[in-house]
Amino acid sequence: METANKSMLQQFLEATTLEQSAVTPASEGKAPPLAEKPFPPDAVRIPLPEPGMLPDRNVNFLEIIELRSTLRQYNGAYLTMEELSYLLWCTQGVKMVLPNGDSRRNVPSAGGRHPFETYLYIKRVEGLSPGLYRFLAFEHALLAEAALDEIEEDFLAAFRASQMVENSAVTFVWAADARRMTYKFGNRACRYLFLDAGHVCENLYLAGQTIHVGTCAIGAFYDEKLNAALKLKGESEFAVYGAAVGKF
Ligand SMILES: Cc1cc2nc3c(=O)[nH]c(=O)nc-3n(C[C@H](O)[C@H](O)[C@H](O)COP(=O)(O)O)c2cc1C
Repeated sequence: METANKSMLQQFLEATTLEQSAVTPASEGKAPPLAEKPFPPDAVRIPLPEPGMLPDRNVNFLEIIELRSTLRQYNGAYLTMEELSYLLWCTQGVKMVLPNGDSRRNVPSAGGRHPFETYLYIKRVEGLSPGLYRFLAFEHALLAEAALDEIEEDFLAAFRASQMVENSAVTFVWAADARRMTYKFGNRACRYLFLDAGHVCENLYLAGQTIHVGTCAIGAFYDEKLNAALKLKGESEFAVYGAAVGKF
């Protein structure tokens, strides 16, 4: 069949088969991309409560699974720093750094490539000025990116459900650096990036459920606007998925 007659989905599937993806930068012995987006050495980093100090939650696992549902309205209460640390630990926490710089985390990732940076639009977290932050997974710390008044208008305009984002305690955005994934998987990385994001968000739903924090996954955002608000180039770095959270 001519390419022109094939659906976009069919073209995508054919362009991303394992066979199409045999030769990759990794298979050609090229150097890997950085495992974390760099930041200036003098940037202010805000340490988060240590993962090892987070309290164990005694929960009924099946109940947590069964109670999970999407929550779009929040009660306006603030999250504590400990709760934010817990949600970040469960979604992107680095358990181990391997000798080659790769990481093992609390979520699975194809080839252990972990392509995401987590951006946090923080409105209601005790002890943090509202604004845009980035989670530094390897340091388990926050990097301040922009004050609320610098980012609010552009960030909110990037979501169809901007009111929900505005009312959230925190809105997470997972932005991919596609090079981390294409390095090992070539074209097939286009599938794995989006699969990886699902695991991350599901952990957010489940972790939130254990601490009375409700979650709404967000796929309905305007790519260009969100990438611009986060200062992502849009080609190899782009927003993949988001989630609003708040207390219930
Ligand atoms: C990939 C994905 C994207 C979603 N995007 C949105 C969204 O942009 N806005 C929204 O209100 N809900 C969004 N949702 C939530 C779904 O609407 C919700 O999961 C669905 O209605 C089922 O409800 P439940 O999660 O309570 O089981 C999304 C869910 C997924 C998995």
